[in-house]
Amino acid sequence: MSNTEAAPAREQFSGQFGFLMAAIGSAVGLGNIWRFPGVAYTHGGGAFMIPYIVALLTAGIPILMLDYALGHRYRGSAPAVFRRLGKRFEVIGWLQVAICVAIMSYYVIVLAWALRYIGFSTTLAWEAADSPTTFFVSDFLHLSDPGFALTLDWAVFWPVVILWALTVAVMVGRVSRGLEWLNKIGVPLLLVMFLGLVVRAVFLPGAMEGLNAFFTPDWAALADPAVWVAAYTQIFFSLSIAFGIMLTYSSYLKTRTNLVPTGLVAAFANSSFELLAGFGVFATLGFMAHTQGVGVDELTGVTGVGLSFFTFPQIISSMPGGQIFGVMFFGSLLIAGFTSFVSILEVIVAAVREKFAISRPVAVAVVSAIGFVASVVLFTTTNGLNALDIVDAFANNIGILAAAVFECVVVVLVVRNLKDLQHHLNQTSTLHLGGWWRWLLALNAVVLTYIFVVTALRYAVEGYDPASYPASFNLAFGWGTVLFLAVAAVVLTMLRWRTEVDRFTPVPLEPYTDRKGEEVSA
Ligand code: ALA
Repeated sequence: MSNTEAAPAREQFSGQFGFLMAAIGSAVGLGNIWRFPGVAYTHGGGAFMIPYIVALLTAGIPILMLDYALGHRYRGSAPAVFRRLGKRFEVIGWLQVAICVAIMSYYVIVLAWALRYIGFSTTLAWEAADSPTTFFVSDFLHLSDPGFALTLDWAVFWPVVILWALTVAVMVGRVSRGLEWLNKIGVPLLLVMFLGLVVRAVFLPGAMEGLNAFFTPDWAALADPAVWVAAYTQIFFSLSIAFGIMLTYSSYLKTRTNLVPTGLVAAFANSSFELLAGFGVFATLGFMAHTQGVGVDELTGVTGVGLSFFTFPQIISSMPGGQIFGVMFFGSLLIAGFTSFVSILEVIVAAVREKFAISRPVAVAVVSAIGFVASVVLFTTTNGLNALDIVDAFANNIGILAAAVFECVVVVLVVRNLKDLQHHLNQTSTLHLGGWWRWLLALNAVVLTYIFVVTALRYAVEGYDPASYPASFNLAFGWGTVLFLAVAAVVLTMLRWRTEVDRFTPVPLEPYTDRKGEEVSA
């Protein structure tokens, strides 16, 4: 008798709108509001927009479509989908799952900061300190030098507990209830709130200088490969692609779903939101520079990771109605991040459910317990901000980049089923992808491999941010993250499937009619 079970019946979003909201909810997250402005600021300000747009059009959208095609055609979690492409590729799926484990462990910390700052905004708590920066770094995080501190920061601990409890409450229900409802309410609310905020920010004195800094390209920065790497990885993180999210979400769609237009709407909504956040934060930086009587590029104490938490308190304190502005800003950050956080978790939950034949509530409980312990031990300490900065850098610039390389290389060069995937997307969609899609993915297989090798070498030789972090710290937290990803991916691949993952036939490819009215057969 076989001791494997039939795969659990695939859950489904109730319809296209629910999926679109979930896709936007996942894409628009901390990546847009918290990460993007900081990454842009440290990589040439306005100059960053050029590689960003290039990366969006040449890699972001094509890989988003690839994720959709894989998830929808092979209807499974990331490991199941890659295994269905070929048994030896399962490990790529687990690599994507492991990346989600790393990201979930620190992502929740930034959400916890946002939750605390909603409260701080009501009392303008940072005004008791010399500056909002000192308040954030010293009074709130009690930040130590980069090292191995294990002293818990209780101010972050309780919000972390609350957020994990909320997460479990949303995730235990079916996809079409918990996740879908959260997004259907959260995404429209977020759009309205954030738009209001940005409009307010651009009318602040000095805002124009900030926006000028955002839009003035510094062409020299384009010669720096690090700027390009940052743009590509920002796009992957922000669009939730190449680490299992969009692949998992699209596996929950009905067979007849208009995939291509939905993907384009999600991609442009995400980038519009990112630009909007850029407007808001750079306008605010302009205002900060104006109040300090310096140029935007001369602002000190502005670093990537904490950017939102230094700049926004500053304007909250100096504008009428600032408290409301603060609650709205940190509330937006929390909603945007939370709808993405659950999507990161879903990748892991879907994978362990399928591999080990466990129920959704059990999978949610196990994954959340692991996530909770990791987020507390690694990031809720006085060393948390340092650890978070470096794990974010390695998980994205090495982890996600590697996963994107593997995904493209396997599909384009090894399995070579791009034509079938293109046909699959086109037969379900009102907009059809042309041959350019396949060419762009082939180009990505080469370009991303090059970017990956350059980045890995740079990190190996110089380390990440050597001015701030000693080599031992880079080794423990940065390369430790890479080691974790590799080991977790291999070990999880080696464990036995408890469901009949290999008993699967994709939907047949049917002829469809193209734009010129001609029938296209597979
Ligand atoms: N796409 C998500 C974000 O931008 C992970 O935060």
